[in-house]
Amino acid sequence: MHHVTVPQTGVYDAWRDAARAHLTARTPPEAILWSRGTEARDLFAADTPPPAKAAQITVPKSFVALARLVVFHSDPERFARLYAALWALQTDRGFLADRGDPRSAKLNALAKEVGRDRHKMHAFVRFRDLGSGSERRRFAAWFEPSHPILELAAPFFAKRFGDMDWSIFTPDLTAHFASGRLTFTDPAPRPDLPGDAAEDLWRTYFRSIFNPARLKPKAMQAEMPKKYWKNMPEAGLIPDLIATAQTRAREMAEAAPTLAPARAEKVVARVAQAQEALTASQDRFHAALDACTRCPLHANATQAVPGEGPADAPLFFVGEQPGDREDLEGRPFVGPAGQLFDRALASAGIARDKAYVTNAVKHFKFTPRGKRRLHQAPNRDEIDHCRWWLDLERERLRPDLIVALGATALESLTGSRKDLLKRRCRMEETRDGAPLFVTIHPSFILRLPDPVQKAEEEARFIEDLRTANRFLSA
Ligand code: URA
Repeated sequence: MHHVTVPQTGVYDAWRDAARAHLTARTPPEAILWSRGTEARDLFAADTPPPAKAAQITVPKSFVALARLVVFHSDPERFARLYAALWALQTDRGFLADRGDPRSAKLNALAKEVGRDRHKMHAFVRFRDLGSGSERRRFAAWFEPSHPILELAAPFFAKRFGDMDWSIFTPDLTAHFASGRLTFTDPAPRPDLPGDAAEDLWRTYFRSIFNPARLKPKAMQAEMPKKYWKNMPEAGLIPDLIATAQTRAREMAEAAPTLAPARAEKVVARVAQAQEALTASQDRFHAALDACTRCPLHANATQAVPGEGPADAPLFFVGEQPGDREDLEGRPFVGPAGQLFDRALASAGIARDKAYVTNAVKHFKFTPRGKRRLHQAPNRDEIDHCRWWLDLERERLRPDLIVALGATALESLTGSRKDLLKRRCRMEETRDGAPLFVTIHPSFILRLPDPVQKAEEEARFIEDLRTANRFLSA
């Protein structure tokens, strides 16, 4: 029997290296006992050094994506399941794509649970200000994820809070981010963290986004499960807000709007803006969007182009940015790319007027060339700034399935535009865990010079849309 202990960090790489070595040596799955760090295992079992030479092994990309999540599940069998799958893939390349196969179904279920846990961690970690004598402020948070996912989740915080130093303590591991470097240490007992002013802001924020007229306690608890409440300052408000929701909803209907408190002005103003945009009528939402000056693109465009479609649309298409025609008409996908898109939707059996169609960037970016305005791709900053609006549109609609049309949409929704063609026609998740289908942008087809290739690509695009529609029905 072989024993492999995967370390507390570098979990995926360590599992992959050991798995590769054992696969090269043809060690069957039942001959390996896997564990991680200090996880309990047979006291008398010593680690067996992996066979010296490991061959390069090719596996489907989808397996790598699954394994990168599954290694962070708390299931004691996770490493063994992955190795068994790797073993099986050598003789049956297709089993992973078969959702009816119990091995594939189990791995997908584990990956989904880890993805969900990561999403919750990103949303619910609450940092406390530790103060600082130096330039960089220091923060710390305690969090109890359902799975040992800190290593997986921490890079998100490093990116988002890169301008401060912080530590996140979990029962399994501790992460530290200092002067731009992310490191991990052993778990520490739960620290006694100070309350701080940010708690008041969280409460203010939560109170202001809580809409008593739209209260759905079950949905609310599904989104913010009770187990997280104890570490969230705003959660203390929930019972009272629920208890008084009916009265407040009645009062709100009767009363004229009141002024927001002056305290914490900036945060409250941002929150109020988001709240307003979330619940605003379509016209007011469009007016707010049209007044946007978050990035320089507003200066040259005729107008901002909002998304279009019914509020209960289950399908939500995201393109790149309005083109020349869209900029003039104020509607998305009405120019040449829009006509191709309409044709493809119709061939795929999708009614455009039942779907929501929007763009990652809402203003037309171009360079003037004589009388013409030549399309220019938006840069990362412009995409990032405009995600505020895309997120609000998504929040307003809460669609069942989002479809990224091309690289800009993909970058906005997932953070990466890499390998679009390899990711095409596949299900992924948005940054915040919503189901996302990936396909190309219709302009890609328009730009192909060869009519035969054009026709082939259009047929393929239609097939992608059909697949998206099937995912939706499933
Ligand atoms: N291309 C896009 O990405 N969006 C439009 O609205 C039109 C063309």
